[in-house]
Amino acid sequence: MTETLLEKLNRLKSARNAVILAHNYQRAEVQDAADYVGDSLGLSRQAAKTTADVILFCGVDFMAETAAILCPEKRVLVPDLHAGCPMANMVTARELRQLKAQHPQALVVCYVNSSAEVKAESDVCCTSANAVQVLERLPADKDILFVPDSSLGQYAAEKSGRKVILWPGYCPTHHRIMADDIRKARAAHPGAEVVVHPECTSDVVALADSVASTTGILRVCRESAKEEFIIGTEVGLLHRLRQENPAKRFHPASPQADCPNMKINTLEKMVWALEEMIYPITVPQPIAVKARLAIQRMLEVA
Ligand code: 13P
Ligand code: SF4
Repeated sequence: MTETLLEKLNRLKSARNAVILAHNYQRAEVQDAADYVGDSLGLSRQAAKTTADVILFCGVDFMAETAAILCPEKRVLVPDLHAGCPMANMVTARELRQLKAQHPQALVVCYVNSSAEVKAESDVCCTSANAVQVLERLPADKDILFVPDSSLGQYAAEKSGRKVILWPGYCPTHHRIMADDIRKARAAHPGAEVVVHPECTSDVVALADSVASTTGILRVCRESAKEEFIIGTEVGLLHRLRQENPAKRFHPASPQADCPNMKINTLEKMVWALEEMIYPITVPQPIAVKARLAIQRMLEVA
């Protein structure tokens, strides 16, 4: 009898003592095959505590790098090396050093959607789930540089009441969601709750009922008494929302919010990765040591 892809994946997973971590935006079949599906914060925590020898990371490159930084003794694999994050590429370590030279007293908060080199130049990391708390805990007399996401930075600055110098990076996928999309969706689904990700533009955020990370959106929708929701984030999250809330209805704010990088990983590539032990992600030691400090400071906050 022919072994299905899923059976093959599970057999290889046991043979390699591997754990599969997948982000909430991955293809439905990739999420369903994973041991843990979550947001960037949850995935970092999961990577930090796994007892597996191998982590197969289904997400984009900075997430696998974070896992490699937190678990230098594990083998971290990605199914495809081309799954990068355009927003993370919007700031380089060199550019950040230049910005720091202009603000020598400032502290640098870097969104985890960034390279290991940028994290190594930063004081503390944050994710969309804890950016507000990270800002709130920084000394009140310090200036703050926030890289690379200007939308998350602006949202977290407003929520925490902190003044922040923003880097002009943004998520091309979330910026496809327009304020008009929200208005039209509200008109088409009166009474629906609007829940959006803080990577959306500030005019979209201003029209939402709640703003949260991907796992936060799952929690809001689970706990809400409403039965219908308009979701302002990457469309991959709708799979879990529908799976976990079969009696509720979910509408994407925009079907255009589809991140091609997140969809590069497939079941075939996952099988191949565990078969061939490809593609390994490693971070050079001096960079990893500094970047780990910034990530660990974040994990201590929230
Ligand atoms: P979160 O799951 O942390 O909200 O991440 C959003 C994102 O865009 C990751 O690429
Ligand atoms: Fe990067 Fe945006 Fe895609 Fe997330 S959704 S990987 S932030 S481009």
